[in-house]
Amino acid sequence: MNLYERNQKQRTFFNEKIDSYDQVHETYMETKKMLADCLDKDTTKILDLGAGTGLELIHLFEVYPNASVTVIDISENMLRELSKRDFANRVTMICGDFFEKDFGNNYDAVISTSALHHFKPEEKRILYKKIFDCLKSDGLFLNCDKISSSQEEQDHSLYELENNIDNYKHIDTPLTVENEISILEQVGFVDIFSSEVDKSNYRLIKSRKGK
Ligand SMILES: C[S@@+](CC[C@H](N)C(=O)[O-])C[C@H]1O[C@@H](n2cnc3c(N)ncnc32)[C@H](O)[C@@H]1O
Repeated sequence: MNLYERNQKQRTFFNEKIDSYDQVHETYMETKKMLADCLDKDTTKILDLGAGTGLELIHLFEVYPNASVTVIDISENMLRELSKRDFANRVTMICGDFFEKDFGNNYDAVISTSALHHFKPEEKRILYKKIFDCLKSDGLFLNCDKISSSQEEQDHSLYELENNIDNYKHIDTPLTVENEISILEQVGFVDIFSSEVDKSNYRLIKSRKGK
């Protein structure tokens, strides 16, 4: 199954999860809040990759009421829920695949949570370069996401993705923190820091475009 087909499978998965999504993700609210808490104080223009129903944006608009946020998400049902939120008129919604949609440019920050752990390392390199390119000079990339605890765990999930994908409705393939950092460095990010969050299988990784 190629990347396009896998991403369409994700779209179906999240479209079908819509009725229980917010309830299931309630326990992740602290990880989502960290995004807004770690932004630079003068942040205005933000891109949120895989915003889903917009849970991380609830806190973000409390802290940054004047923010201008663009979101890209492949699931139309998730975005339909986002459009019901009281801050929806401050959000530009783009329904589509990260690998196909234009990101725009000149963002102060790109944020993402729980949305980027389904890609192979070579696919992440393409995605992270696209993120790098859409940021303004010194812009920030904040990703709070699932990580693998070991190389073996990463290798196992990537093996399943490559060889047994038909057995899964949904498969997570998080990379280790070390591999995440290595890819960020390869595309040019600097000042890369990873911190623990309240979920042991998650990390917040903060990186900068540089001046
Ligand atoms: C687990 S949800 C996270 C939603 C939100 N960030 C949150 O933390 O509640 C992952 C989101 O990423 C979106 N997504 C996954 N793969 C995508 C892709 N290739 N392109 C665009 N969106 C994608 C899904 O549709 C889904 O809404």
